[in-house]
Amino acid sequence: MTDDQFGHAMRNRWMLDPAITYLNHGTVGAPPKCVLEAQQKLRDEIERQPSHFLLREVSPKGVGKWKRGRSRLREAADVVAGFLGAKGDDLVFVDNTTSGVNAILRSFDFREGDEVLVPDTAYGGVLHAAQYAARSRSATVRIVEFPKSVRGPGDIVKAIDAAIGPKTRIAIIDHITTGTALVLPVAEIAARCRKRGVAILVDGAHAPGAIHVDIPSLGVDWYTGNLHKWAWSPRSSGVLWVDPARQASLHPAVISWGLDQGITHEFDWPGTRDPTPHLAAPAGLAFMRELGVERVQHYNHELAWNAGCELARQWESKPMGPEDMTGAMITVPLPPHFGSTADDAAALRDVLLFEHQIEVHAGALNNQVCVRISAQIYNEMSDVGRLVNALRLAS
Ligand SMILES: Cc1ncc(COP(=O)(O)O)c(C=O)c1O
Repeated sequence: MTDDQFGHAMRNRWMLDPAITYLNHGTVGAPPKCVLEAQQKLRDEIERQPSHFLLREVSPKGVGKWKRGRSRLREAADVVAGFLGAKGDDLVFVDNTTSGVNAILRSFDFREGDEVLVPDTAYGGVLHAAQYAARSRSATVRIVEFPKSVRGPGDIVKAIDAAIGPKTRIAIIDHITTGTALVLPVAEIAARCRKRGVAILVDGAHAPGAIHVDIPSLGVDWYTGNLHKWAWSPRSSGVLWVDPARQASLHPAVISWGLDQGITHEFDWPGTRDPTPHLAAPAGLAFMRELGVERVQHYNHELAWNAGCELARQWESKPMGPEDMTGAMITVPLPPHFGSTADDAAALRDVLLFEHQIEVHAGALNNQVCVRISAQIYNEMSDVGRLVNALRLAS
């Protein structure tokens, strides 16, 4: 498979409606057809003997009695952990990044007056989880302002370093920010946090599959992220990696049979649920490996960067950050006549979809409407050309 076979030639490997130009892979992901087929096979297998499968093949309690060795969930975790440079038993599945963040924050031993550091780029749901955890334990959330124009990773490290104070206990850092779509220098930030006694939780919602991720090398305490966005898993499939020193104190947001028996027992049976999004995760990784992981990531990065430059050229704007902080998504601010508020951005999103059949994320940042383009191997520059034309007509 060569890069010139990516683009619209790949569209038939996805279920996506061919009438829509889909430039929004990052928002809720889109699993390839072969992954959905693998998931359906698992569902068929489960439904032949549901109790047997869930209680003896998946539940850690049942597996222990029924067979030596690993449950189906642990086998899938081994594959996913391998993709992320980690050990299988340091990684558990969660429904999504939101669940992972909630588990960590609810387990954290906040003391009165502690401060949680959260950048102003944090995802809204994650910020709420931090505010909820903090307020119920007399802690506070401090929001770090990032520079409006980021010249390089050093700007981000400096901003975090300056915001850490004597009460800071934990920092929540995005691996890839949601609105500005910037890849943050997590390892450097983690080094600063460690030096100053601050625990670090990474929100990797957009990272696995989009960029190379080797979790243990980052030096963080917890890493949670999604597989259903860029690692091509079915929804809902998230992961939570935990430094071994932090494992005994971590519990899921929903407590069930595994209490105090270690993270794999606690998280592998959160009550009865559909395990197929997690069991099918290796199928997404296998498809990406078949196409070439580096090739996929390179194609998506180049397309995202070129798309950002093209949009910026049209409106004498510039992408939110430099190329070395860009992964498979890029955000470009639009000129004032596109509006300045979240409502203006939502209206633009609707016009693009309903009048031009283009699905792309738009939001408001720093009083400017911005477009965030996701680049996936089923996209090509002509999709960006369609977006540029539609934006011209919409303005
Ligand atoms: C940075 C970031 N964190 C967390 C989330 C939440 O992801 P999920 O809804 O899968 O939990 C998102 C969603 O896009 C995100 O962009």
